[in-house]
Amino acid sequence: MSNRGSFSNKLGFILAAAGSAVGLGNIWSFPFEVGAGGGAAFLLVYLFFCFILCFPVMVTEIAIGRKTQLNPAGAYEALGFKKWRILGLLGIISGVVILSFYNVVAGWAFGYFIELLSGHFEIGSQFSTFIKDVFKVGLYAMVFMFVTAFIVSKGVSGGIERASKILMPTLITMILGLVFYSLTLDHAFEGIKFYLVPDFSELTLSVMGNAMGQAFFSLSLGMGALITYGSYVGKNDNIVTSAAFITLADVGIAFIAGLMMFPMVAYLTDGTMEGAGQGAGLIFTVLPGAFESLGPLLGVLIGSLFFLLLSFAALTSTVSLLEVPVAYIVDEKKIKRNRAVWIMATIIFVLGIPSLLSNGYSGFFSSFITYVGAENATSFMDFAQNVANDTFLPLGGCLISIFAAYAWKTKNLNEEIALGYPNYMGSFIQKYLNFAVTILCPLVLGTMFLLTLLQTFFGVTLF
Ligand code: TRP
Repeated sequence: MSNRGSFSNKLGFILAAAGSAVGLGNIWSFPFEVGAGGGAAFLLVYLFFCFILCFPVMVTEIAIGRKTQLNPAGAYEALGFKKWRILGLLGIISGVVILSFYNVVAGWAFGYFIELLSGHFEIGSQFSTFIKDVFKVGLYAMVFMFVTAFIVSKGVSGGIERASKILMPTLITMILGLVFYSLTLDHAFEGIKFYLVPDFSELTLSVMGNAMGQAFFSLSLGMGALITYGSYVGKNDNIVTSAAFITLADVGIAFIAGLMMFPMVAYLTDGTMEGAGQGAGLIFTVLPGAFESLGPLLGVLIGSLFFLLLSFAALTSTVSLLEVPVAYIVDEKKIKRNRAVWIMATIIFVLGIPSLLSNGYSGFFSSFITYVGAENATSFMDFAQNVANDTFLPLGGCLISIFAAYAWKTKNLNEEIALGYPNYMGSFIQKYLNFAVTILCPLVLGTMFLLTLLQTFFGVTLF
């Protein structure tokens, strides 16, 4: 254990795990998914997935990690289930895919910091040109991967933990300030209504599927990132309260990011909310205009600081994504940590190049694939997101529950949880977690996985 490293205390773990969870998923993709999913209806389903289904998976992942003190692939094997290694490998591959495109978006965020620092507010309307400028964005993405690798190479407590402790609180303060500002804008109320008053006619299977994928993605679940982080957690820590805190922090920050965004969208569209469903460009096109209206000085200050902090939030997430394959090759291939870090970072950066090119620069990658029954082609980057976030992560979550309930057995899971939670046995939370991993998660996640798979990729809609 000594040379694997560990978190220095419980708070260190919680902040690092929350740092992993809070990232572009909360501030970039959550608002655009809500916008595309018709507003409050999406929000409701999202909350349901986070608290009812994802939370038990999170507890399970952390418990498996702490029990085995290993990377995801090694963990299943160490518990005596060699065949389940494949689930760990699936997770590691998902992590690699996610990091490859995530790093490109992180590069956008970092690039926006630079643009706004120089007072270039027009960048909002030039978003599609900006992401096509692959040499510029590629350079930002390269810088981003470099910094990520540097932090990961510094190890668990010195690098990952220290960075999270400072950056997270600053980001939250900043977003709260922007919430207050956006509530003072004209039409703010229409934005809030869109966000908080559900219209159930918007609730389709694909909206539910997206909410599920988004919940897993935002909580960093389903691929073993929390198995890996859990492997650095002390035996006396209470996994249940830690997981509750991480979930609340992540959902809370996504929620306030929505409170910040939708009044701004309403303001910029005179209350029509048209364009709320525009997709991946939402924060990048909307925010610069809102910052500009703060005046030249304040606009530059707040605008650039916002994108800087967004980059930092992304950084604590990229760090956790890189940590997973690194822990895997350190544990299994006995490569030195430092070398493992730089090798993986280089590979993943290169794997991100198709995503980089898929935003208008290369016709081939921009219209990469047309799903059966779909009208338009999907870009490589969207395809990678559909495969990794919306398909592999929920599948991973489903299989992790099945593993814990039927291979490892709930008795062992409970014993591991009870180590840091003396009154756990016999409590309501124990009964709920056991019900969730044995029945609820396998059933709901499994069904949703199949239905969304059929619908997204094959155009089959059963209801
Ligand atoms: N949760 C992060 C976000 O919201 C992204 C992320 C980090 C992630 N680590 C992960 C997603 C592991 C899935 C799995 O931005």
